[in-house]
Amino acid sequence: MSKFKVVILPHGYPSVEIEREVVGGAGGELVCGDTLPDEAAALREAEDADAILVRWTRVTPEIIGRLKRCRIIVRYGIGYDNVDSASALAAGIMIGHCPTYCVDEVATHTLALLLACVRDVVNTHAKVASGGWTDNPPVRQWRMAGRTLGLIGLGNIGRCVAGKLRGWGLRILATDPFVEEDQAAATGAQLVDLRTLCREADYICVHAPLLPETHHLVDREALELMKDGVILINTARGPLLDEAALLGALDAGKVAAAGLDVFEREPLARDSRLRSHPQIVLSDHAAWYSENSLAELKRTVAEEAVRVCTGGLPLAIAYPEVLHKLGRFHEWQPSPNAVWQLKRAARLRDGRTVGQTSGLTVSRVSGPEFLPPQGHGVGDSANRQTGGLTHTHT
Ligand SMILES: NC(=O)c1ccc[n+]([C@@H]2O[C@H](COP(=O)([O-])OP(=O)(O)OC[C@H]3O[C@@H](n4cnc5c(N)ncnc54)[C@H](O)[C@@H]3O)[C@@H](O)[C@H]2O)c1
Repeated sequence: MSKFKVVILPHGYPSVEIEREVVGGAGGELVCGDTLPDEAAALREAEDADAILVRWTRVTPEIIGRLKRCRIIVRYGIGYDNVDSASALAAGIMIGHCPTYCVDEVATHTLALLLACVRDVVNTHAKVASGGWTDNPPVRQWRMAGRTLGLIGLGNIGRCVAGKLRGWGLRILATDPFVEEDQAAATGAQLVDLRTLCREADYICVHAPLLPETHHLVDREALELMKDGVILINTARGPLLDEAALLGALDAGKVAAAGLDVFEREPLARDSRLRSHPQIVLSDHAAWYSENSLAELKRTVAEEAVRVCTGGLPLAIAYPEVLHKLGRFHEWQPSPNAVWQLKRAARLRDGRTVGQTSGLTVSRVSGPEFLPPQGHGVGDSANRQTGGLTHTHT
């Protein structure tokens, strides 16, 4: 008789041998959603699971309502925006994720897209491959040294991008409401508000998480503030960027080029104009991938589930405030990655703004009973970077 049950919702990975080894090794049963007839059958299996592993499935309030024993839902990835956090918090279910498994890959991919845009690699390749040759390149190409890079979000990936670009002669600006000036300076970046970054950067890379207040963080208003000829890269989450506004800005020549790995709807529609725009370089949400990152991801996800199913706490929790509801906050050692989530939760508790574009209040996200108590010790330099952009659809 197995000690606990872990269900992987339909996932599309070629193998789950790593998960089976980790879960089985701890005495658990692993049920793989891809071996079941359909998603409905997998969700039935999930009803009495102790832990659920999820890749793509949108874990809705209705699904969470059916879970009788689940203690943790672990997302295969860094982002966890496909899991309904308010319902999970209300049900006392932890949301786990893997904050570090592909930091190097995404940062490298960001640079690949940026350099492809700056040097117009894709169009130049197509021209030469189809027999062309021009002594004076007809399209605009730029230099890196002496220009300004803007990072929206200075977490693991933003910092890794900044680190990789040391020595390239760039001035680096960053905007992040939960990072202190000295932390930014340690990465070689100067902390500014979003407006300043939009006005001053030649190249802008998005590395913020998708949250209610970051939906369309880069919208028409932000694009209008940007320099003519700005280059924009998004390897974070599609809805951070208003795609219709981006297309308008590309057509108007305001944005010179964009590199996109993520989209408002995935897979990207076959007839999307983003696919055929000559000034957009695309990839298919592939920034995370390498053979190394995939193996690390699968092992980490399974280990987190086993930790919780055997009475422990996960190393990474997306919304640590759930530990208050479970009465286990005192047991937990916040990882460096959790610090910004705790600061955000504290601001929500205090009814303060949590981003640079919105005025979200506690009731819009989760109840105050789930938030860390005052004086938890998470430093916060308050609304230092208010930015001033207004938003209509937070
Ligand atoms: N394309 C891919 O394959 C892929 C892979 C992994 C991660 N991602 C995405 O990359 C993004 C960054 O990941 P990470 O590992 O650096 O995450 P992280 O949690 O380490 O860092 C996120 C940073 O964003 C900051 N932030 C929060 N709200 C903000 C706001 N309103 N404005 C600006 N910054 C804000 C946080 O303070 C934090 O410093 C996430 O959106 C994640 O989902 C994409």
